[in-house]
Amino acid sequence: MLILTGFWCVTLLLTYIETIQIIPTFEDFEKAKTDLLTLIESVKVNRDLPMIAGCVRLAFHDCIGKNNCDGCIDHTNRGNAGLKVITDRLDSLYDLSYKGKISRADFYALAAVVALTRSTVDAPVKYLGLNYFKVGREDCETSPNQLQSVQPPFGTDGTHKTFKFFKNEFDFNVREAVALLGAHTLGRCRLENTGFEGAFVDEKFSTVIQGPNTLAPTSVLDNAYYRMIIDIVPWIQVAINGTRRQWQLPSHPIPNDKLPESERTTLLLNSDMANSWIIRPTDENGAVSCTPTSETTPCQHSFAHQHALQFAHDNALWIKEFTKVFGRMIELNRNVLTDAPKAPHATNYYK
Ligand code: HEM
Repeated sequence: MLILTGFWCVTLLLTYIETIQIIPTFEDFEKAKTDLLTLIESVKVNRDLPMIAGCVRLAFHDCIGKNNCDGCIDHTNRGNAGLKVITDRLDSLYDLSYKGKISRADFYALAAVVALTRSTVDAPVKYLGLNYFKVGREDCETSPNQLQSVQPPFGTDGTHKTFKFFKNEFDFNVREAVALLGAHTLGRCRLENTGFEGAFVDEKFSTVIQGPNTLAPTSVLDNAYYRMIIDIVPWIQVAINGTRRQWQLPSHPIPNDKLPESERTTLLLNSDMANSWIIRPTDENGAVSCTPTSETTPCQHSFAHQHALQFAHDNALWIKEFTKVFGRMIELNRNVLTDAPKAPHATNYYK
């Protein structure tokens, strides 16, 4: 009887320990921020810091699925292609220094927020989401791997499917989804990952005066993405690899995959065009029968257009709304989160 009671006590204790919420100490949290910034800065391609875009994309993909932001990615899911190089770098740092001190889900979310903070250092409007960061996310049981995952949205998806995804997955309305999609001001698409090729924005629309020491536009969080969608109207569809459709400028009708890197142009996916236009793909490669400036089959503006237009005209407004909606996304977790640890006796000026 005594042995049986002891057995149950140990089982209960183990269950309790397993489900206990990890709240990092102030020292560990501060060190994690510094280490993450060092890691992000350590991967440099000319003026680009590709870990910035990679960490932000990872945060989004980590928050998709049943348990939301849970420190788990299914790398066998084609929709997550390209994220392994990002998680490998983050996991090496995490396993070496932070296991048991902060959850992996907190670590991935923090990496994105540190990346976004770094991305606006040269920009006129700063991202301040780090000031509101919360901790205490619960990892999935198999973290960092996920066995069964929800399919991330496809870039070939049209307007209806794109906004339905954000409503169903995160309960975000159209304006919130439009604001969140502005993350595509960062980074690029790679043929070997998702079958698209090119960067979303270029120097023409950046809010940063370009110099040898400023970050490339693909590493800067600003409203360049919306100005690109709104101000360049005549986008045309091209077939990458002869199949998958992406939008390029009429002045650059040769698909990016057929050009050397230096000659490639900016691109938009159907799901980006959806921020302004009603996009109705007619096949699985995303072919659309309208173009914005066609005389015979012009595309019509979508219900999202008014929001994209506002964000295109007001960078500060967009950064404010993006910060809020991105913060809401990365706080989705089974646990109730708490404010990140502050310095003992520090005043919280942001409350
Ligand atoms: C309809 C929704 C979305 C679709 C269809 C979509 C699709 C894609 C695709 C196809 C890529 C190219 C990946 C590659 O080839 O390596 C990409 C990149 C990216 N996505 Fe999204 N995405 C969506 C929403 C989001 C959201 C909500 C965020 C963040 C809040 C995000 C952040 C990024 C970033 C930062 C990149 C660049 C990654 C890099 O350069 O490494 N995306 N996305």
